Amino acid sequence: MSGHARVVILDFGSQYTQVIARRVRECQVYSQILPYDTPAREIAALNPRGIILGGGPSSVYSKDAPHPDRGIFALGLPVLGICYGMQLMAHFLGGKVERGARREYGHGQLKLTHQCPLFGGLGKLMDVWNSHGDKLTKLPRGFRAVGRTNNSQFAAIEDPKRRFYGLQFHPEVVHTPRGKELLQNFVFEICDAPPDWTMGSFIDETCENIRKQVGSDHVVLGLSGGVDSSVAAALLHKAIGDQLTCVFVNNGLLRANEAEAVQRIFGEHFRIRLKYVDASAQFLKKLKGVTEPERKRKIIGYEFIRVFDDAVTELTRGRTRGDAPKFRWLAQGTLYPDVIESVAIAGNPAALIKSHHNVGGLPKKMKLKLVEPLRELFKDEVREVGAQLGLPKEIVQRQPFPGPGLAVRILGAITPERLRVLREADTIVVSEMKASDWYYKVWQSFAVLLPVKSVGVMGDERTYEDTCAVRVVESQDGMTADWVRLPYDLLARISGRIVNEVKGINRCVFDITSKPPGTIEWE
Ligand code: XMP
Repeated sequence: MSGHARVVILDFGSQYTQVIARRVRECQVYSQILPYDTPAREIAALNPRGIILGGGPSSVYSKDAPHPDRGIFALGLPVLGICYGMQLMAHFLGGKVERGARREYGHGQLKLTHQCPLFGGLGKLMDVWNSHGDKLTKLPRGFRAVGRTNNSQFAAIEDPKRRFYGLQFHPEVVHTPRGKELLQNFVFEICDAPPDWTMGSFIDETCENIRKQVGSDHVVLGLSGGVDSSVAAALLHKAIGDQLTCVFVNNGLLRANEAEAVQRIFGEHFRIRLKYVDASAQFLKKLKGVTEPERKRKIIGYEFIRVFDDAVTELTRGRTRGDAPKFRWLAQGTLYPDVIESVAIAGNPAALIKSHHNVGGLPKKMKLKLVEPLRELFKDEVREVGAQLGLPKEIVQRQPFPGPGLAVRILGAITPERLRVLREADTIVVSEMKASDWYYKVWQSFAVLLPVKSVGVMGDERTYEDTCAVRVVESQDGMTADWVRLPYDLLARISGRIVNEVKGINRCVFDITSKPPGTIEWE
């Protein structure tokens, strides 16, 4: 897909850069984020219709300030500089940037002073969101101011001849309510980009690319039943049919009915070649008596690689000789946010974000090449692709579930009995969340089993049993989260059912910790 980026966004380390890319894609125009120092000729080779310079935490004058290739201003393409991006543009083209007397942060109002295609249809006043220290004090030649705020006479600038535009504020954030229309104006009115990025066109093109990439080779994919690997499987299956084999490992740490659902959906409904490996006994044996969270994770990660490796070897051997499939490729459901290389600049929050790589050790050991058909997509786009490929809502809208499964939700030792207890409690949480329409509104909702016994009374009998914590959080990406203020009635139903129906639990508590300082999972 990379040959088709209509708008290139250079990343100078702002956490909002991904949001700009999304906003452009919402216009059905394919945008791609590139490192800030991508050479101008590489950008030109992509044949884009315009360039956006994103924001960033640096000052254009500081020693380590990230600077783009000066040549981007000579490509004849429209350029939109946002915040730091605007300051860079001014700095490079002969203007002057200085430390502002005070930092401008938060809401502001932009007054439009001249007509400008960027602001077409947006009226004369606009609420905007600011976050900058430096400010522009002298315009480069050819530029003029088109909008001002109380704090800045150059809040919006243009050089209409060269089609260069600069904004001191952030149009991509929700606090600039009409910022989306402004970006739309840049994309359509100034760049004249065609709105030809649809999930349908993505699917067709990606299938063709996959076929070209793998030829007649066979591809193996570790299917977890989560959104990403499921959509990757469905897409690859559409592209190469039986050249794809999925391996589903039951590690004994799955939720109730999960293994059955994956086999039903992928094996029976989609007729994907699916190797089901029940390694639960092996995993539980290795985990016996282990209570330390990191050790649990390590054991599970290591065991997964072994089981997966064995499964692929078996698949290759299991055929009559001469007809053995050559597994040369490992497919993974890696998403765009995982692959964007964040600019490592001090104070850049995006640089700190790392995702969990469950099968990170696989390709090196197995000498497989990687095929990652979702590398260009954001999560919501992946869901849309999944829906278009006919995957059911229970897959495409499902909540994230950690690779180490229930192991990180059973505090203390993992035993078959404690797994039974947690599975039953978890089933109640999920079914009540679904029945009340809350399940799809939150990021995650699940039960955790604590090794804490307390006294209770059931009928006339004294009980002494474990505690269950219910965790329900909202989040955009799992990196930060807040607990959800569920209605008391719903909490009462969940707690009442767990304590009454699950043998082994006599007390239920609700986790009211946000992240940070807590994490979402308990281990
Ligand atoms: P934490 O607990 O770190 O979780 O706040 C953030 C998000 O990541 C999920 N999670 C994992 N996902 N493998 C995964 O695929 C893992 O090892 C893992 N650990 C946590 C967690 O469910 C939450 O959505």
